[in-house]
Amino acid sequence: MRSDDTPLIRLEDYRPSDWLIDTVDLDISLHPTKTRIRSQLALRPNPAGRPGAPLVLDGDELKLVAIRLDGLLIDDAAYSVTPQQLTLHAPPTRRFTLMIDTEVDPSANTKLMGLYLSSHVYCTQCEADGFRRISYFLDRPDVMSVYTVRLEARKLIAPVLLSNGNRVAAGELPGGERHFAVWHDPHPKPAYLFALVGGALDHVRQNYVTAEGRSVELAVYVEPGKADRAGWAMDCLVRCMRWDERVFGRNYDLDVFNIVAVSDFNMGAMENKGLNIFNDKYVLADPQTATDGDYASIEAIIAHEYFHNWTGNRITCRDWFQLCLKEGLTVFRDQEFSADERSRPVKRIADVRTLRTTQFSEDAGPLAHPVRPRAYKEINNFYTPTVYEKGAEVIRMLKLLVGEAAFRAGMDLYFERCDGTAATIEDFLACFAESSGQDLTHFARWYEQAGTPTIVASGRYDAAARSYTLDLAQKTAPTPGQPEKQPVVLPVALGLVGGRGDLPLATASEAYAGNGVVILDQPSLSVTFTDVAEPPIPSLLRGFSAPVRLELDLDEAALLRLFSADSDPFNRWQAWQTVAMRALVETGRDPGRLDALAGTGEALAAGLREFLKTEAPADPAFAAQVLRLPALGDVAREIGRDVDPDAIQAAHRRLSTEIGRQLGRDLLELRERLASAARYSPDAASAGRRALRNEVLGLIALSAPDSGAQLAEAQFAAGDNLTDRLAALAAMTLIPGNGREALIARFAKTYAAEPLVLDKWLMAQALIPESGTLDRVRTLMQHPAFSLTNPNRVRALIGGFAANLTQFNRTDGEGYAFLAEIVIALDRTNPQVASRLLASFKSWRMLEPRRKALAEAKLAMVARTPNLSRDVADIAERTLA
Ligand code: TRP
Ligand code: ZN
Repeated sequence: MRSDDTPLIRLEDYRPSDWLIDTVDLDISLHPTKTRIRSQLALRPNPAGRPGAPLVLDGDELKLVAIRLDGLLIDDAAYSVTPQQLTLHAPPTRRFTLMIDTEVDPSANTKLMGLYLSSHVYCTQCEADGFRRISYFLDRPDVMSVYTVRLEARKLIAPVLLSNGNRVAAGELPGGERHFAVWHDPHPKPAYLFALVGGALDHVRQNYVTAEGRSVELAVYVEPGKADRAGWAMDCLVRCMRWDERVFGRNYDLDVFNIVAVSDFNMGAMENKGLNIFNDKYVLADPQTATDGDYASIEAIIAHEYFHNWTGNRITCRDWFQLCLKEGLTVFRDQEFSADERSRPVKRIADVRTLRTTQFSEDAGPLAHPVRPRAYKEINNFYTPTVYEKGAEVIRMLKLLVGEAAFRAGMDLYFERCDGTAATIEDFLACFAESSGQDLTHFARWYEQAGTPTIVASGRYDAAARSYTLDLAQKTAPTPGQPEKQPVVLPVALGLVGGRGDLPLATASEAYAGNGVVILDQPSLSVTFTDVAEPPIPSLLRGFSAPVRLELDLDEAALLRLFSADSDPFNRWQAWQTVAMRALVETGRDPGRLDALAGTGEALAAGLREFLKTEAPADPAFAAQVLRLPALGDVAREIGRDVDPDAIQAAHRRLSTEIGRQLGRDLLELRERLASAARYSPDAASAGRRALRNEVLGLIALSAPDSGAQLAEAQFAAGDNLTDRLAALAAMTLIPGNGREALIARFAKTYAAEPLVLDKWLMAQALIPESGTLDRVRTLMQHPAFSLTNPNRVRALIGGFAANLTQFNRTDGEGYAFLAEIVIALDRTNPQVASRLLASFKSWRMLEPRRKALAEAKLAMVARTPNLSRDVADIAERTLA
């Protein structure tokens, strides 16, 4: 389908469904190529809909087998049917039942939407609009029904049969070869939360008693033989359930909670009611096959999906424009959970890094859109960092604005008032307006306006008046479809740092909200602080209190002072990053200054040496974050135009090398001190030590390649855990030569039976910033570990390559050609994965003219390809616009 022919769906066109479905009874007989679905719908006219309207049910590649109305056959003329739609022209204007039989082929379902087979396991993915690939339905989130599901399958193939809710019956069929299970979910839900699983699976289980006293059977299902890797997920589940009781007063509401890990999955995981289905990458963990990062993301995603039970399922979205209502809020909740379980500052730093690399870059390019988009052609293209990560930042600002108590009260009110409904952002915000007494109309602009605001700040000290005046202004660059920008509400958490720490803040300014927060809600304003005893250094945007860019002209001495003395750990880290960023931007703009980086490296190393003396032992996880320079992509975005990726890469490498060289022996000693004889444990403190030790290894690899290579080889050999072994491989990829190739080969041999580990191996190679990488990636596509049909493999190798700033953006355009070729091929089997890959082009407009022209040509080539999916056509069109 050509995208230009695809209708644009607009928020303003929303109208309630003409029909409602009170109950859904599904009877599903699982078969690899011919699965039969009988669906019985109890329909009634919606009082809020148009009386006498036809009934139009959604379908997608469906085959109708039979249809009955109130048990009777219907006349051919009374309905029309296509694979996309089933229409009853003049349905009864009262309650009636519709019985619909369809047949689907799970084994041919390569889109991984609807019912499909993943390594012999039947599973479903229905968000956003996959249910219509199973049966004709009113596939929209504001149609909520009570589901009863009977599953039937061969016992040998699918001994485990799961669906939403509680299991109410099970048994064998005559003959003993087939069996069935009946599941009932008492909570009305939209079709996107329906799920089933059938297969031969192992599991771990645990009983859990909620704070309200409900006994719940928890289980985590995994591929046979992998149950010993499910323990961490279970541990995370129990901890996040307790946390939601304690922090949000939310208890679980069914007798069963199941998690299933499958190996072919388009995204991270899915919050189906009582039956969360996961990409196995976010469930399976043991020290040999998962890194510290994996343990942390499993914790975050288990929590995320569990938290959806209230923010998403009990309260769902009226329409898909409200996606951030559940996603932004649930990301905020999972971030807070991880912050409580680990180090809050380090978690915040990690989240802000992600926000900047993924969301700021989206907001700065052609795919920019508001947290609540106003229109879409393909909703699957709006599961974006903007909806998720920026959506979470908006909730974080809301909490800062209304305060802790009103935030909790507003959440309580939201749960009470909107429970069981399909809600909107307006419904949500109304709860906080009420709980805080604040007018949130201006704040709501965050949901409407795309683009990352910039705060321009400057301060002056008046010694005679003992006052300090801060001038703040905000601006947002135009984004597609939004040429004019309005000011947004920006909570600026701040401090004034004096010789002995934070100075007291006193001001008569109305913009000061107390608690160290100035509210910048106009184009510009000034705040004068009184009784300021000495010239202070402003520490702005503490804790990254708003998702903005900050322009504040502090000299290097002031930044280094903040780095060592700011009471806000986030801003200590930020000050350091700013120093490094300035040097990288200057050199990235003008490669002629490369040699000047030696001086910068020397200055930075001196600062780091002091810092590491005290901080490395005290908080290694924080120290690791400091040692890591800003990402290449972030430097590119700061430069903003005529970007030359090679110059940025050269600057980055040179600065790291200089720092490493200057620190020299200190690094070796630090690495020694951080070595641990204890058995591997994934806890945050141990992970922090490994993180720092491995950052150090990276610096050594760059600055002293011979000893770096030796250390990496030894670390790989000695490593009892994947974190250290993968870090050894990553360090080795920085050192071209036979040693590198040998370790790459050895790694593959060691983990030949571990697809998830080999994904990291694929990615590490795809990220090598050398001209041979494209050939290497092409060769790896032939490796038995790779498969174009598995999304994890594709994201690791092809996604890794697309994230390789210098090699994707090769000057000969071959990187673009390669990606375009893969996108077009993949689009025929899995459009969702293809369109996500294509979105890697999103920063093409900031490149220097030569690369820009090459990228544009390839994008145009993709856009011209016949029979593109709606997913890919939409991204191609918007990226080019
Ligand atoms: N709702 C899921 C989450 O954020 C996202 C998701 C999982 C999804 N699978 C999907 C979205 C497939 C679109 C298509 O937890
Ligand atoms: Zn989610």
